[in-house]
Amino acid sequence: MTAPPDRAELERQIQELKQQLLQAQKLSTIGSLASSMTHEFNNILTTVINYAKLGLRHKDNATREKALDKILSAGQRAARITTGLLSYARRGNDRREPTDLIALAHEVLVLVEKDLQVHRVRLNTNFDPQPVIADVNASQIQQVLLNLIVNARQAMELGGQLTITVRAADGTTAEISVRDSGHGIPADELRKIFDQFFTTKTADAQGQGGTGLGLSLAREVIEAHRGRIRVESTVGRGTNFTLKLPLAKSVAAAAIKGPHVRDAAPVNPKAV
Ligand SMILES: Nc1ncnc2c1ncn2[C@@H]1O[C@H](COP(=O)(O)OP(=O)(O)OP(=O)(O)O)[C@@H](O)[C@H]1O
Ligand SMILES: [Mg+2]
Repeated sequence: MTAPPDRAELERQIQELKQQLLQAQKLSTIGSLASSMTHEFNNILTTVINYAKLGLRHKDNATREKALDKILSAGQRAARITTGLLSYARRGNDRREPTDLIALAHEVLVLVEKDLQVHRVRLNTNFDPQPVIADVNASQIQQVLLNLIVNARQAMELGGQLTITVRAADGTTAEISVRDSGHGIPADELRKIFDQFFTTKTADAQGQGGTGLGLSLAREVIEAHRGRIRVESTVGRGTNFTLKLPLAKSVAAAAIKGPHVRDAAPVNPKAV
């Protein structure tokens, strides 16, 4: 008979299962964006095809140059989305690095811009002019932010206003907030939203309900980063989620010495 696994082995297995769960939730969030992303690619292809036809029909240099220009920018837009998608879907690890949260938010927005537009949600960004550097696992924080944005969009069935703020709240704390003008959360549900498998989303025509894991994993990820997640909501008016994360130590120290030193903080090149 084989000996039962020891404690260290069990802990390793739990960590591995947690990683798998995070990865599964990450991919399921992309699933809810698939339909609008496909539309966007269709639009891009239509632009490419129409301008290619125009360029073939008209032999003059000015028209051809304009056509090539349009084809190039449509191609570049498609490349930005696929690059963002591939980097988002990559299996994560546990490593943390100094990361600019503003660059990280821009990367997430590339993935959701079209989805917001399709659902008539106006996007308002409120980003610090300086990089906001925190020691984080970029892939996990992107996942948390994307889930908050998808939740917000799903709460605004008739469209609305989404405001995303990323700023250094003080010398030691970075703050990311996602505010929507959606249907809000009643008090009895508010107590449960961070529970595993709590969801109010039933399967829609595409069979896509919620798994109820987004916020419970978000809380786990943020607390593992020594941060906090808070929610305020008013039924009929909207909801605001705020994430607080410690600023990277070097940045916090520089902020005390003087603002100009902050610019020298390293930016995670992968997140830019
Ligand atoms: N911005 C919001 N506005 C209104 N309700 C919200 C909002 N964010 C979360 N909720 C409520 O909290 C519940 C739990 O959210 P959570 O992200 O954990 O799961 P989910 O979105 O239902 O499923 P998934 O696992 O696919 O994310 C949601 O089903 C919804 O009822
Ligand atoms: Mg969710």
